[in-house]
Amino acid sequence: MSLIKDDLSLYLTHEEIQNVVVELANRIEADYAGKELIWICPLRGSIHFIADIVRCIHLPQQVEFVQLKSLSKGGAITIQKDISTEIKGKHVLVAEEIIDSGRGLSFLIRHLEASRPASLKVVTLLDKPARRDLPLRADYIGRVIEDRFVVGYGMDYEELGRNYKDIHYLKN
Ligand code: IMP
Ligand code: MG
Repeated sequence: MSLIKDDLSLYLTHEEIQNVVVELANRIEADYAGKELIWICPLRGSIHFIADIVRCIHLPQQVEFVQLKSLSKGGAITIQKDISTEIKGKHVLVAEEIIDSGRGLSFLIRHLEASRPASLKVVTLLDKPARRDLPLRADYIGRVIEDRFVVGYGMDYEELGRNYKDIHYLKN
């Protein structure tokens, strides 16, 4: 099964996405000059974003993957797969492709803070503030979007569409 063209309307082309990624990367590279970064990539939606942003930043950096699991819709969140490195005293950046309710990210931040990193910041390609359940603001935001569902560039609709190069709105 795949999403059909009629279900989608173009939001950002691959080239526009790359421009946003470069803008974010330049700000981060300047802010962290002389430091070493540990990126946390929540699986699976952020893999395209992390792969692109790390290649635009010329600092020593490492990427770690984490996977969260919601026990029920809107219910408790647990860690399905944790990071496998020590982050105490390190400069940590969480890379999200999109922040929606903020519930997953709030949980992840609390979890990471328990390991006492030297700093912990959040970078998101897209931010959907209208959907926020918890008061959470990313430190680096690529684009703010309205309350519409998007697919492509890692983001899925029932696991479909992650592979699309562009980002599309899913029509209702
Ligand atoms: P939150 O905990 O509600 O902020 O969940 C954010 C996660 O839900 C994101 O990292 C995405 O994986 C997924 N998500 C939120 N909005 C969208 C969307 O519009 N399209 C695809 N995935 C989304
Ligand atoms: Mg995500």
